[in-house]
Amino acid sequence: MSLQLATLVEEFSILPEQDSATMRLLSLLDDPNVEGRDIARVIEADPSMTARLLTLANSAFFAVKNPVTNPWGAVMVVGFNVVRALAASGSLGLGDPAGEMPKGFFDHSIGSAAGAAVVARQVGVRASDAFSAALLHDVGSPLLYRAARPRWEEAIVEDDEGNVRLCLTAERAVFGSSHDQLGAQVMEYLHFPPSIVDVVASHNNPSALVTSRLTRIVIAGIALAETAGHSSTTEPIADPIDAFEAVDLSFPPTETMLEELENEIADLRAVLA
Ligand SMILES: [Fe+2]
Repeated sequence: MSLQLATLVEEFSILPEQDSATMRLLSLLDDPNVEGRDIARVIEADPSMTARLLTLANSAFFAVKNPVTNPWGAVMVVGFNVVRALAASGSLGLGDPAGEMPKGFFDHSIGSAAGAAVVARQVGVRASDAFSAALLHDVGSPLLYRAARPRWEEAIVEDDEGNVRLCLTAERAVFGSSHDQLGAQVMEYLHFPPSIVDVVASHNNPSALVTSRLTRIVIAGIALAETAGHSSTTEPIADPIDAFEAVDLSFPPTETMLEELENEIADLRAVLA
């Protein structure tokens, strides 16, 4: 039986309700006529979101010259898609390392987000969209874990060290779908733009078949994190050399990239954990 988004929404209530504060914020961010102060007001009503946004906007990640002291200033620094990613991650309970999610999921998300940001900068692209897409690229995995744990257990493989990861072939057999396709539906539901939905849907595809530059950047970013030893909780990027070549970077990554990656991870952990 195929596990579709409607089932997740209706039976398991694990996505935010359409009238929740998160969904209001996500739709406001879509409105071309919205005033900055309206968005700021919704963010201010959520103290933990306000704190995260301000910390992130003032972190080395965005390297601003003058400290940002108000939510709207923070939104302007980090960009709408990072606000979307933080709101979605918080409301799905993915921003808490001790939350109900597969072992290692939080670390993999942070490692991938940092990796995607490092690769984006290397290739001269603004880091925020790559960061947002990478942070949530495996969102389907914890949702399957919570919604259908016995079936999730059937779709994992375990290595000698007890690390488990979802296996795409097994997912398709057990669920009739996989975390990438389900995750893409969830991202659409949460009003993410098509470029970010494509990252989630296509992150397991071979880089040579991927046409979107953002998706190629994120795949290379995940490969960077995995190469540095930050293991995956789903299938690792099959060919990291191809992933790097697809964004015109040579493999293996330079020492500078690896150093930047670890700094970014430490930074994000302090902001998001
Ligand atoms: Fe994945």
